[in-house]
Amino acid sequence: MLSREEIKKNVGIYAAGLVKPGMAIGLGTGTTAYWLIKELGARVKEGLQIMVIPTSAKTGQLAKELGIAVSDLNAAGELALTIDGADEIDPEGQLIKGGGGALLQEKIVAAASRELVIIADSSKQVDQLGKFPLPVEVIPFGYKQVIRQINQQGLCSKVILRQVNGYPFITDHSHYILDCEFVKIEDASSLNVLLHGIPGVVETGLFIHMTKRAIIGYPDGRVEVTMYK
Ligand code: A5P
Repeated sequence: MLSREEIKKNVGIYAAGLVKPGMAIGLGTGTTAYWLIKELGARVKEGLQIMVIPTSAKTGQLAKELGIAVSDLNAAGELALTIDGADEIDPEGQLIKGGGGALLQEKIVAAASRELVIIADSSKQVDQLGKFPLPVEVIPFGYKQVIRQINQQGLCSKVILRQVNGYPFITDHSHYILDCEFVKIEDASSLNVLLHGIPGVVETGLFIHMTKRAIIGYPDGRVEVTMYK
């Protein structure tokens, strides 16, 4: 049986095979995307010519260190493909993302792409979203009012301001993250709309019908492609 890390490496290497010479692609963030970036770096050293639009500062930094050409989304236009990780995937391909705090840029880059391909180990597949706390990116100004409104509307069971060493976690775009706990998310689409209706909410980690393909790795070494409608 493979370790989680070995499974992530497998799917990262598999997904690198989708990247063809001359492509401009969105490059994901997280511990699974890490292996994709490493593999692309190796292929670039062997002569593969690509351009990447990173979904976070961390990904951009790693790509540059590996010699991968990094560009800006405004300069790139529509992207052929974005490959990114996820925290949860339901049977319809709806996602929770943002465990690493990069959800805003990830969603913008994914929306600018003809296709979002998810790479994940099989533990990310769930029957219903909501076990993983939903990250919601908010403006720091008045964020406690956002928490109050989420609580008043009963949108989730508990809201926690994400912190690192006792200080608020700051995103690449200088925002805070609220991690919203649920028992289960009954209607992800409506929840997304309701959260967006609260002034101060910048983006949610709910990626609704944004992906049609997930590359899933299993402990026995299998890598399978799951398609969604
Ligand atoms: C980053 O903000 C996230 O959306 C990641 O894409 C997600 O957390 C998946 O991460 P791992 O591949 O590290 O599990």
